[in-house]
Amino acid sequence: MPKDLEALLKEERIFKPTKDIVEKSNITQWMNKYKIKNYDELLKKANDNPDWFWDDLAKELEWFEPYKNVLKWDPPHAEWFLEGKFNIAHNALDRHIKNGKGDKIAYIWEGEDGKTRKITYHQLWCDVNKFANALRELGIGKGDTVSIYLPMIPELPVAMLACAKIGAVHSVVFSGFWAKAFQERVNDSKSKVAITTDGFTRRGKLIPLKENVDDILQNTPTIKNLIVINNAGIDVKMHEGRDLWWHEITENMSEECETEVMDSEDPLFILYTSGTTGKPKGVVHVHGGYAVGIYTTLKFVFDLNEDDIWWCAADIGWITGHSYIVYAPLLLGVTSIIFEGTPDYPDPGRLWKIVEGYKVNVFYTAPTTIRMFMKYGPKWPQKYDLSSIRLLGSVGEPINPEAWVWYYKYIGREKCPIMDTWWQTETGMHLITPLPISPLKPGSAVMPFPTVQADILDDMGRSLTEKGGHLVIKTPWPSMLRTIYRNPQRYIKTYWSAFKNMYLSGDVARKDSDGYFWIQGREDDVLSVAGHRIGTAEVESALVSYECVAEAAVVGKPDEIKGEEIAAFVILKDNFKPTQELKDTLKYHVRVEIGPVATPKYISFVDDLPKTRSGKIMRRVIKAKVKGEDVGDTSTLANPEAVDGLDRAL
Ligand code: WT7
Repeated sequence: MPKDLEALLKEERIFKPTKDIVEKSNITQWMNKYKIKNYDELLKKANDNPDWFWDDLAKELEWFEPYKNVLKWDPPHAEWFLEGKFNIAHNALDRHIKNGKGDKIAYIWEGEDGKTRKITYHQLWCDVNKFANALRELGIGKGDTVSIYLPMIPELPVAMLACAKIGAVHSVVFSGFWAKAFQERVNDSKSKVAITTDGFTRRGKLIPLKENVDDILQNTPTIKNLIVINNAGIDVKMHEGRDLWWHEITENMSEECETEVMDSEDPLFILYTSGTTGKPKGVVHVHGGYAVGIYTTLKFVFDLNEDDIWWCAADIGWITGHSYIVYAPLLLGVTSIIFEGTPDYPDPGRLWKIVEGYKVNVFYTAPTTIRMFMKYGPKWPQKYDLSSIRLLGSVGEPINPEAWVWYYKYIGREKCPIMDTWWQTETGMHLITPLPISPLKPGSAVMPFPTVQADILDDMGRSLTEKGGHLVIKTPWPSMLRTIYRNPQRYIKTYWSAFKNMYLSGDVARKDSDGYFWIQGREDDVLSVAGHRIGTAEVESALVSYECVAEAAVVGKPDEIKGEEIAAFVILKDNFKPTQELKDTLKYHVRVEIGPVATPKYISFVDDLPKTRSGKIMRRVIKAKVKGEDVGDTSTLANPEAVDGLDRAL
């Protein structure tokens, strides 16, 4: 680490935003309206009267019919903006067209190969309308689900917004997952239509998406049509009566389309995320509250103004992209970047070249990316003019103070506050986060957003300070998940059973004596690999689905850049030899079953796995071994000798 960085860290400095940033910020403007003098007063006033806060912001959006009540809280079920008639797509697009903002650029898209496209609000609106009409023509309407499996091409937000426009529920599956994962999600969501592309390139390599989808569509009985975008020019086979080209079905469609009037609480989308069991959870978000929550957080946390260029460098296939690439920036009417490629391809200057080229004002990425750039060294960002950046953001995993300070110094030029935003697929919006007016401590996500009350509890439900414990949320927020798709019991069991009327986040965190929150990581069997949430159970079941595997246990091994790497311990069935070749085959198998993000980096063959007397694998023990730590109490193990076996395997 460079000497000056080390000094910065040792200082335990509190980074105060400049007067200029504070005074100009949207949050200060808003506070002035209500004569609120400072951050403490803001939190107090909002927490005392959450309905007042959210009502004020909800009114900045357009309602077909006003809501009667802000909130009905019947734990664990919250309803927001009751009886309001609303559509998020109307607010993201129609409203701006009506207000004469059609010529403004909504998206600047840059392809992996450097190709660019600028899409105005008017163009986006026309594209969405045409595709929405095409979907209607296929019989899709209110409440139907549509599965979307696309890379970061402009048709992805178009497809999502078109669904929203006609009241259909989209379920986007990350294009880095493989087709098997898509199949599982299509079947759980019972989609009638799926949307994909012939293919796309990743690091210059062609990925034939349609061909992979063909293999699984025999096993998805609810799918009637597959819509295919001609993106990579691959010569694909079209299945008669089922497959349709996007360009053909939209060609003769009208550029106008009536927006479906939805209820605030009608579902907008399902997004699958990993949990403690093998089956991913379909998190359900709705039109009204979701829109208000993400609109408000983008406005106040990232402080966007009318003329800003905003870049959230995430994939639209995750919640970060849903909320802060697709919906919230359009609700605010700003210009955003959509980048199809990877940060260090063709070289580690790629991101900074984009920042310079489009004069990006606010930039949002994940700690894993920052740590990767630390490794490449400051010479890459130093080649480019980053002076347009005013504010920075971080999301997805804890940002270690070293990475925070590096980001602050080399990307933020010691001028830009860093918004370390803690939230989840389930929360829809930032929940624990600084505002541009908050004093910052490197590595802390600071405090809950106004109206949100968070706490750290021990197993008995007692509030803790300066000690790690369960991170819980005690109050509802507008963009909270409403349920788990077709599994309301799992919603209650997962999030609302540990402590009465409190949302259990699944994270361990600490609150310091100033009330600052420090997120430490997941407490359940969920891994965080390069900021991606991966369930150990999903990887284990993929491994066990391979014929020669009898049993498998998966844990996270700390990694300097990715946070965690996947380490798998595998028991082979009799008669199978533990060879290097078999290790490679198993890695490939998981890759095909789930996707490259879930590929184990390490595989070890063992004869036995440490288990409790009831037969549960003790991942805690395996994890300690992998980290080289003391395994602690093993008295509850049924087979303590398995621990020695782990030693030999490592
Ligand atoms: C999990 C949620 C929210 C968008 C991306 C991930 C971890 C998220 C932070 C942060 C520390 C963080 C948590 C959380 N996480 N943001 N700023 N500091 N940890 O969404 O896939 O639903 O994952 O990501 O562990 O529970 P997700």
